[in-house]
Amino acid sequence: MSNYHIKHLEEYFQVYRKSVRDPEAFWEEIAEEHFVWRKKWDRVLSWDFSKPEVKWFEGARLNITENCLDRHLPTRGNKTAILFEPNDPKEEAQHITYRQLHEKVCRMSNVLKEQGVSKGDRVCIYLPMIPELAIALLACARIGAIHSVVFAGFSSQALATRINDCDCKLVITSDGSYRGGKTLNLKSIVDSALEACPGVQTVLVAKRTGEAIDMMKGRDLWLEPLMYKAYADYVAEVMDAEDPLFILYTSGSTGRPKGMVHTIGGYMVYTAYTFKNIFQYREQDVYWCTADIGWITGHSYIVYGPLANGATSVMFEGVPSYPDHGRFWEVVAKHKVNQFYTAPTAIRALAKESLKFVEQYDLSSLKVLGSVGEPINEEAWHWYNNNIGKGKSPIVDTWWQTETGGIMISPIPYVTPTTPTYATLPFIGVQPALMDEEGKEIKGNLVDGRLCIKFPWPSMARTIWGDHQRYRDTYFSAYENKYFTGDGALRDAVGYYRITGRVDDVIIVSGHNLGTAPIEDSINEHPAVAESAIVGFPHDVKGNALYGFVILKETGEGRDRDNLRKEINQQIAEQIGPIAKLDKIQFVSGLPKTRSGKIMRRILRKIASRDVADLGDISTLLNPEVVQEIQENVL
Ligand code: WTA
Repeated sequence: MSNYHIKHLEEYFQVYRKSVRDPEAFWEEIAEEHFVWRKKWDRVLSWDFSKPEVKWFEGARLNITENCLDRHLPTRGNKTAILFEPNDPKEEAQHITYRQLHEKVCRMSNVLKEQGVSKGDRVCIYLPMIPELAIALLACARIGAIHSVVFAGFSSQALATRINDCDCKLVITSDGSYRGGKTLNLKSIVDSALEACPGVQTVLVAKRTGEAIDMMKGRDLWLEPLMYKAYADYVAEVMDAEDPLFILYTSGSTGRPKGMVHTIGGYMVYTAYTFKNIFQYREQDVYWCTADIGWITGHSYIVYGPLANGATSVMFEGVPSYPDHGRFWEVVAKHKVNQFYTAPTAIRALAKESLKFVEQYDLSSLKVLGSVGEPINEEAWHWYNNNIGKGKSPIVDTWWQTETGGIMISPIPYVTPTTPTYATLPFIGVQPALMDEEGKEIKGNLVDGRLCIKFPWPSMARTIWGDHQRYRDTYFSAYENKYFTGDGALRDAVGYYRITGRVDDVIIVSGHNLGTAPIEDSINEHPAVAESAIVGFPHDVKGNALYGFVILKETGEGRDRDNLRKEINQQIAEQIGPIAKLDKIQFVSGLPKTRSGKIMRRILRKIASRDVADLGDISTLLNPEVVQEIQENVL
């Protein structure tokens, strides 16, 4: 048997060496022994980072849903695949078995087919965390359509941009969604988005909240009756390993969101293999990842990775604070969750609340705790370790990205000794490198630099939808022959990695990546605004919050400042989404600029963070005098 399940440290080192010495032989063995293929590959890997072009398992034929569903039916047909926990704890949880999930996916596949969706078509999914969301992903995969999930917290304009960018012809949504004590009318957001999306022919609407919505004749259809009528089997489309599985948008430092394209074969192999090891999943375990499927974490580690392993994956509709701050722990106790995977921002928010919310629940089922999305600070790590894991459940601090598809640097629990705030060692097959500003690799330990990856791994994104040049420019041009992550990292004396944060203009707020440019563009559209600059500053729950420096036009000067602040945030919420709202807005007479006109964000970042001991040399600025003014009025 191959090394599918790593159980001790020597084994990790041995398997790691093997995966680096002969990656093709290594991944071939994993792919061969643990997945079902309709046809095996002609070639395991071909790659050229200068183009860039990467292909894994070229020539292989498969359907990922046969790996996530069909193959489990004989042995796990009655095992719970998806355990749906609703927003309201009084509503009963749903245990959807592998057999039931298979049937629902088949029915939805037939519905999509009847609506004219075929292989290669793009389907936009804008749904809350209800079972239909997971079913929709899998139904697209089953018929070979490419899903593009848009997080159901994005505004109608943000949704429209994403629908148009990849020409979706069909949208799957719901009437509304529950988020804690609030309901949100999703369908009306879709309706206004679609005013700008002429290519969308059909909208399928799942019923969740039962609120009144408009149904446009000839375009909008209720999903449920169609599912009910549809045939309960569907022969999976046979796909190429390198066919796209999905597009998922992520923010860049500049410009429009980037539609990262992931392909089927490599993504399946890598997400399944990482899931098995990084969560040490065993057959009877109940695994829970609290992310939303609207983000990569949900794609890879709620849906595809767990289901490919025949796991039971909890899908939670609610929020950590409803009906009170004990909700996460209530759910852990209720379903006897064994692996729990969440984000530092949630941990920090819950750590601020009374321990009584934790102590009233039996958390003894927990074996592994995970963290993802941003660096976890020492305090949050210890709170998580002491109060949730009771010092007995290892924390896996997993570093990865939308672009990487799967976890790249992480401890393996019960295998890799953990150190607070360290993502520790590269996963099997991952070859990290730290680079200096001149583009040279920094060897040895006790060093820090920019984090790159030197060799392809199976689940890397293959391109940006419709813009391969941008893919190349963003990830493969900073350092020759290497994938550049955009993160900084250090390597300690034993070779452990600690991710220090973004080195570009992406700011991570509550685990959500936000590019500064689109937010600035949105602010600048306000009629009273002349120019603006956004930076991040430390926030004890969100990790970072946004600080905006805004120059007003003459016409805006007389306006009430607090009203302006509200209007600006309102505009951001409408154009991007509430997650991109600014915590602080300071009106300034100018922005520090270099002589070539570039805004010196480094200075603004320091001022916003109240870290002004060393602002660096400001004498070369075009307008050094504004620095003092900005500093004096800092909020
Ligand atoms: C950050 C989320 C430190 C990092 C899976 C990365 C982390 C970006 C960690 C990707 C971690 C993610 N420690 N930083 N464990 N995990 N990040 O695309 O800056 O939403 O580049 O993918 O989150 O965010 P994305």
